[in-house]
Amino acid sequence: MNQRPLIIAPSILASDFSKLGQEVTDIVGAGADWIHIDVMDGHFVPNISYGIPVVQSLRKVTDKLFDAHLMISPADPYLEAFAKAGSDLITVHAEAGPHLDRSLQAIKALGKKAGAAVNPATPVSVLEHVINRLDLILIMTVNPGFGGQSFISAMLEKIKQAKAMVGGRNIDIEVDGGIDPSNARACVEAGANVLVAGSSLFKGPDYVANIKALKLAAQSIAV
Ligand code: DX5
Ligand code: ZN
Repeated sequence: MNQRPLIIAPSILASDFSKLGQEVTDIVGAGADWIHIDVMDGHFVPNISYGIPVVQSLRKVTDKLFDAHLMISPADPYLEAFAKAGSDLITVHAEAGPHLDRSLQAIKALGKKAGAAVNPATPVSVLEHVINRLDLILIMTVNPGFGGQSFISAMLEKIKQAKAMVGGRNIDIEVDGGIDPSNARACVEAGANVLVAGSSLFKGPDYVANIKALKLAAQSIAV
C-alpha cells in the first residue's frame, strides 16, 4: 500500500493554449496540486510543444509546484534556463543522453528537485545507480509525444518494480499518459502517488468534477 500523499498533476498540454494563463488558474482553483509542463523538441519525441518563455509567463499565475517534464535531447544545455524560468521539479528522460547522472547532479546544483523518466520500453533498472539523486521517478504509461493516447497496462508491473527499488526513500513515483478514473486505482495500488493527467482533466467545462473523479477513483483502494 502506498503511504505517500496523492498528488494530482494536470498536464497543461491538454489545455486551450489561446487562454493558457486562465486555464492554469482554473485548474488550480479546481484542486490541482502540481502543474505538469510537457516540453517537447520534435527530436527526442515526434512533436513540438512549448518551452522556457511559457514556463516563465505561467510563473506569474500560480505558486503551485511546476513539474517540468523535459522530452528534449540534449537536456543539459537548457536545465539552468528551465530552473530560472520557475520550474520547481525538473525531470529528464533516462534515454535523452549518455550522462543521466550528470544531468541529475546539474538539476540538484540549481537547487531544484530532480526527476528521471523512463519510456515504456526502458526498464526501471537503468535508475538503480542514480537513485540517491532522485526526488521523483516518472514511469511513462504511453510513448511520449502526444496527449490523448491509451494507457499501456504492462506499465503497472514497472510501477511495482520502481516502488520496490525506492523502498523507504523519499522519492515520488509519477505516472504519465492515458491516466483517467478507470486506471488510477491500479496505478496507486502498484505504487504511484503522483498522477499526471491531461485529456481526462481538461475535458468539458467542469474541472472540479474531473479532478474529484480522478481523486476518488485513485483513493478507492480496498483495505
Ligand atoms: C505525453 C505527455 C503527457 C500527456 C498526458 O508525452 O508527457 O503528459 O500530455 O496527456 P494524457 O493524459 O492526455 O495522456
Ligand atoms: Zn508529461
